[in-house]
Amino acid sequence: MNKISSQKMSHVAIIMDGNGRWAEQKKSPRSEGHKKGLDNILPIVQHLIEYKVKYITLFAFSTENNKRPYDEKKHLVKLLDEALNNISEKINEDNINLSFIGDLTNLPKKTISKINQLNKINNNDQSNKLIIAWNYSGRSDIVNALNNIKNKDKITEKKLESHLMTNKIPDPDLIIRTGNQIRLSNFMLWQAAYSELYFSQKLWPDFNKNDLNKALKEFEKRRRNYGSI
Ligand code: FPP
Repeated sequence: MNKISSQKMSHVAIIMDGNGRWAEQKKSPRSEGHKKGLDNILPIVQHLIEYKVKYITLFAFSTENNKRPYDEKKHLVKLLDEALNNISEKINEDNINLSFIGDLTNLPKKTISKINQLNKINNNDQSNKLIIAWNYSGRSDIVNALNNIKNKDKITEKKLESHLMTNKIPDPDLIIRTGNQIRLSNFMLWQAAYSELYFSQKLWPDFNKNDLNKALKEFEKRRRNYGSI
């Protein structure tokens, strides 16, 4: 499905929720839900690229997810490593530039080095941008930005935005959250000011291209006037 309307959609962000409940329904361990969740990323990303969405952000791990049991966190880092090791080919095929937002300092050194290495591929204006939010907190991003502004005499929106981790990324036009929860959970708090929000009842591992098409069609119907008439 190629882009069909003139509605601007350069950035779609997804809160991939529901892996745990998916596993619970199948009487499987939560790790199985996350594995299925990971497997679901590529087809959805590829579909968005076909739809000519240039920026795609996926919320994979929130700062608050650090409260989860050690084994679950360890498993998620293992999945991240696997994904990073397997993704080079796809990155080349689909002209993707991969980057991360969030605090990566607690990741193993080899993981960070792989992330930096992959980030160099297709790092140009023409590529599709896949952004993974990892150990990400919208509130921390704003607080850190404020702390990093040297001249605090007159802080403008533009100045603050230039210090956010998303400074090179346009605000999301559409934020999709799967898993039947109606909240942003500390995701892109500043950037979501005028994002269209779409909530799907589907759990992330079950969220397929048809579900994505429904979200995209719904987006096309929204009237975005940014406070104007
Ligand atoms: C939310 O579901 C999902 C997460 C906290 C992790 C998302 C991770 C993936 C999709 C796979 C790994 C991705 C990468 C990039 C390595 P939940 O566990 O909160 O589900 P629940 O609300 O049903 O418990």
